[in-house]
Amino acid sequence: MKIISSVSEMQAFAEELRRSGKRIGLVPTMGYLHEGHLSLIRRAREVSDAVIVSIFVNPTQFAPNEDFERYPRDIERDTSLLHSEGVTILFTPSVEEMYPAGFSTYVVPESISSILEGKFRPAHFRGVATIVAKLFLIAHPHAAMFGQKDAQQSIIIKRMVRDLNFDTQIIVAPIMREKDGLAKSSRNIYLSPGERNDAAILFQSLNKAEEMIHKGEASAAVIIKEVEKIIHTKKTAVIDYVAVNDAESLAEIAEIQKGKSILVSLAARFGKTRLIDNIIVQQ
Ligand code: PAF
Repeated sequence: MKIISSVSEMQAFAEELRRSGKRIGLVPTMGYLHEGHLSLIRRAREVSDAVIVSIFVNPTQFAPNEDFERYPRDIERDTSLLHSEGVTILFTPSVEEMYPAGFSTYVVPESISSILEGKFRPAHFRGVATIVAKLFLIAHPHAAMFGQKDAQQSIIIKRMVRDLNFDTQIIVAPIMREKDGLAKSSRNIYLSPGERNDAAILFQSLNKAEEMIHKGEASAAVIIKEVEKIIHTKKTAVIDYVAVNDAESLAEIAEIQKGKSILVSLAARFGKTRLIDNIIVQQ
């Protein structure tokens, strides 16, 4: 596995791969890899000849009060995991390499970036879209993998790719879960043992939402109320939002109609740790 930290070297290597007819799959990450990332890498291997994994904790997607400084990092462990996954290139640029002095150009997704996560993290998707656009221009991938856990992120990136004519196919892979259903996340490490136990309630509440929809409940308000009630059975949980949206457009839904894919998503805090999760219900 080749390790590259310079933008120009990465660009040159990607163009060389393309010239020799190789299909490039990119897995953008912020490191501290877990089974969810590994599933994206395995998917990338299936659809490409050369797999590039980027590890970059992107400061522009964190608000000043968020966890940029304490975001978990373990580059040695990540590197050895990537070695054993048969990754072609690990791209690990520094902050200065990605955001040189005087950096002032951003990709700003509109409308769908100000709801759900965007309501609680106003500059978050500007940071995500900007770094993903840069990574696409640097690694020039034929395909890039994202996790369904960040459902809104995937939709925003697909929209960006369409709007700005990137020639990259976006592949969204299913959420990987712990045995008790908690979605795998680098941030789970922050949870105390009690909070960790309580956090399993999120998946249980989403399962209930799915069951209600399958049984014919059409009112989003009724479903949201029930999900909130279930989460509130855990004293450590503080809900930011529970929402029901169209899974493709993210349009808010009041009455669920047959034949639609429905995204039930939520964010909740357990102590200082903010977790997100979601489920897509096919009607
Ligand atoms: O999902 C993530 O880990 C990040 O938002 C991403 C896509 C790597 C951009 O920094």
